[in-house]
This record gives sequence, C-alpha cells and structure tokens, in this order.
Amino acid sequence: MSQKLRVIYVSTEVSPFAKSGELADVASSLPKYLASLGMEVSLFMPKYRKPEIESLPMELIMAELMVPMGEKKVKGQIYKSELGKYDIYFVDNPAYFWREDIYGTGKGEYLDNDERFIFFNRAILEFLLKTKMEVDIIHCNNWPTALIPVFLKTHYSHKAQFKKVATVFTLHNIAYQGEFPPETLALTGLSWNYLSSKQLSFNGKFNFLRTGVMFSDILNTVSSSYKKEILTESRGFGLKDILENRRDFFFSIRNGVDYEIWDPETDPYIVANYTPSNLKPKKKNKLDLIKEFGLSLPPKTPLMGIVSYLSSHKGFDILIEAMDEIMKMDVGLVILGKGDERYEKRFLDIQKQYPRKMAIKLEINPALAHKIAAGADIFLIPSLYEPCGLNQLYSFRYGTVPVVRATGGLGETVRPFRTKTLKGNGFVFKGYSSHALLKAIKDALNCYAKPHLWQKIVKEGFKENFSWEAAARKYRRLYQSALEMKKGG
Ligand code: GLC
Repeated sequence: MSQKLRVIYVSTEVSPFAKSGELADVASSLPKYLASLGMEVSLFMPKYRKPEIESLPMELIMAELMVPMGEKKVKGQIYKSELGKYDIYFVDNPAYFWREDIYGTGKGEYLDNDERFIFFNRAILEFLLKTKMEVDIIHCNNWPTALIPVFLKTHYSHKAQFKKVATVFTLHNIAYQGEFPPETLALTGLSWNYLSSKQLSFNGKFNFLRTGVMFSDILNTVSSSYKKEILTESRGFGLKDILENRRDFFFSIRNGVDYEIWDPETDPYIVANYTPSNLKPKKKNKLDLIKEFGLSLPPKTPLMGIVSYLSSHKGFDILIEAMDEIMKMDVGLVILGKGDERYEKRFLDIQKQYPRKMAIKLEINPALAHKIAAGADIFLIPSLYEPCGLNQLYSFRYGTVPVVRATGGLGETVRPFRTKTLKGNGFVFKGYSSHALLKAIKDALNCYAKPHLWQKIVKEGFKENFSWEAAARKYRRLYQSALEMKKGG
C-alpha cells in the first residue's frame, strides 16, 4: 500500500492522562508504534478533569461542535495536542467529563454513562465529518466506544467520506458490556427495530458491547487463549453465539510492552537503575519500596507485589481467603490499586492486622507501579480471568518473577519453572482456589530460598521479548484486511 494508512484510535482511557486498567497502557503505546510503522494516527479520548490533561499544551480547534443526542443537540468542544508521533484529540463537554473518575467511583458506575459515551462516540464522527478528515480505519476499544460502528452503518451510511472506512473493534474484557435500559436507545437516534431484533440488546437491555460486536467490520481480542475462552458458554458472558457467528471476522493479537517506558535501565521512577547483567541495584529499589509502603520487613525476606484493579475477576476472593496463611510465611506483600469498595475495606483491615508485612495503597499511581515492578521479588496475578495481562510482561523485564493463574494471556506468557529442566519463567497454578494459589506461592518461596535456582528463573524472564513492534505489524495487517474486505463489499 503506497498511501499512508490513516487511523483513528478511540479509547476512554490513555496513560498517563486517565487510567483505570491496562487498556490505558495499550492506548498510549500502540498508537505510537503504529505511527512508527508509517501510519498517520489520531487518538481520541474524553477530556476529564485530571491534572495530567490540564497541564498538557493543547489547542482548542473546535469551540462549537453540535452533537445529535436524540431529539436535542448537545454542544461539545474539541482540543488537539501534538504528542510527537501522533495527535491526540480531546472531546470535551464539562457536564459529561469534568469528573475525576472515568466510569464511576468505588460505590458504583456513574448513572449517566450511557449518555456520556453516546455523546463521545457521536462527537467523534461529527467532528470527522465537519473537518472532512480523511480516514481509513476507526479502531474502537471496549464498550464505551462500541457504538461508532453502528452509527457509521446507519446515520452516516450515505456519507461519501465514510464509505470506505473500516472499523476494528478490540475486546479487552467482555465482562464489561455497558448495559442500559432500552430507553437509552432514544439518545442514539437508532431505530427501535434494532433493539427488538436483538442486534443491540441482551436480556432486555441495550447492550453497547454486543452492538460493537455485531456492527464492527473486524473484531479482535488481546490473546489467543482469551479468544478461545470467550467462545465458550461459561466464559462468553452471553456473547458466545454472536462471536461464533462472526468467527471469520474475529482475530486475536496479543498486547505488547512499551520498552521505552518499561525498562529498568532507564526508568526515571525507580531509585536505582539496573540491567540484567548487573542486578545489584534492584535491592535498593526493594528497600525503597519497603519504605514507601511503611513495612518493617528484613531486606532478605521475599517481597510480593500486586498492581491491579480491585475487582473480582482479578482474583481477590481467593487471595483474601489465603491471606492468613500467606502472612504465616516469611514474606511481605504490597498492593497498589483501587476498585470495589468491599476489597478496599478488606485489605485495609488485613493491613491493620499485619502492618509490618502487608500494605495497600488505594491509588492508581504510575510511578509507584514502576517501583513495584522493580522493587518486588515476586509479582502476583491470581486472576479468575485475564484477557492479556501486562504486569507479568513488565515483571520479566524487571527481573521480578510472576506467580499467576493459567488463564488468558497469563497462561500464554508465563511458563512454569521446573527444577528438573531448569526451564520456565515463573510459577503457574490452574485451579481457581486459595489452595492452588498458596501452593504456587510456596513453590516460589522455596525456589527463592535457593539463589542459584532463582537466578535461573530471573534469567529466563529477561530473555523474553514482547515488544509492541511485532504486535503493531499484526495490527497493520488486520487493518489492511479490514479495508480489503470493505472494498470487496
Ligand atoms: C483489560 C484486561 C487485561 C488486558 C488489558 C489490555 O484490562 O483485563 O487483561 O491486558 O485490558 O488489553
């Protein structure tokens, strides 16, 4: 293809501006690597009330964008910031987005998320139309961006500018579907027929994710194992059948790691930089981490770290069940993350009970996430399911050994260490139980006590390379096939 591919990448979270989960890391890195391959990339996200956004130099490029919302039109603004390799566009409407959180608080989701994200989806298309911006691909991510494909195939189907545009929809986690009462449909201006024909609805609810799955030209998810899992009844969250129907258009591309950001040799967030051949400074990072979390842990005691969204699918039920047993062992644990209030409270209680060995910070804090990658000996990811998982990949690069449950991307990237063959880059358990988790932690601690074994595992991890370059090339092929498909009708 001689002409540059022009890609619109749409996400409601992008690091470092707004983050709830790992999608934010993907959304800040993949566009950069796509641009490095010669694509022209524009990223769209909402303009939240976040210091990281407010301190960014940006230009108001459209002060009055009138966005159809049912019977009314709602005014929005578009800001643009040039981020080096790609441009980022912020969609603004203070009533919808001037909030500190993205989707809601620990108490629950914002009640107007339907309206907020319908606006966001529609505003992007209206903006493209007004500016006559030439586009080949619109790449949507997760339910809050899932209405763009249906809008293109309905409201905008007669617009010459969009005739050749292909949509790609990435499923980062199908447990979150964006389900709303049928009345929400009125805000989209879409015909009620769609709802009654079950194309957009499930269990009587207007379902954004389902809509994206039905109407996007190409679908993908973030590991081949997760793709297989969600094609089963038990893990399909009601989508199995429609995913199966769309099998020929459904792919998987595993996420990569942005080694420009995640590299202990250059990481600006950690107190001592280090390399695979000189791991000594890693110890300083451990001491710094112990101090940061206020633990009183002997430096020789192994330290486990968790960076996660506090929700049930991340495995916190089995972890909480195992906590007393874990605290009996010679090990420390630091947790960074926020989420469901019940987990937040529970971990604060556990911290009170074991203040010397365990601490939690209820924050989303990139600097601290890097400190944990560098300062912990073991990185714990006991997820019930995990579409891809990035922290285990970061851990490899930091000489930190992952202990994970074999699910989704975790099972694909972490290979169990075997003392017989001395092969493997981490510890893996299968069953979703506190018992299985405890066994994996014990195995890891046993190896930790034998430095020659531990060094082997650490070395195996350093050998891994999950760079975005390779994954970005796969996306380029996916985009090209989406366009060819579109051409072929
Ligand atoms: C979601 C998934 C996680 C994945 C991330 C980026 O947060 O839960 O496994 O790594 O999206 O695709």
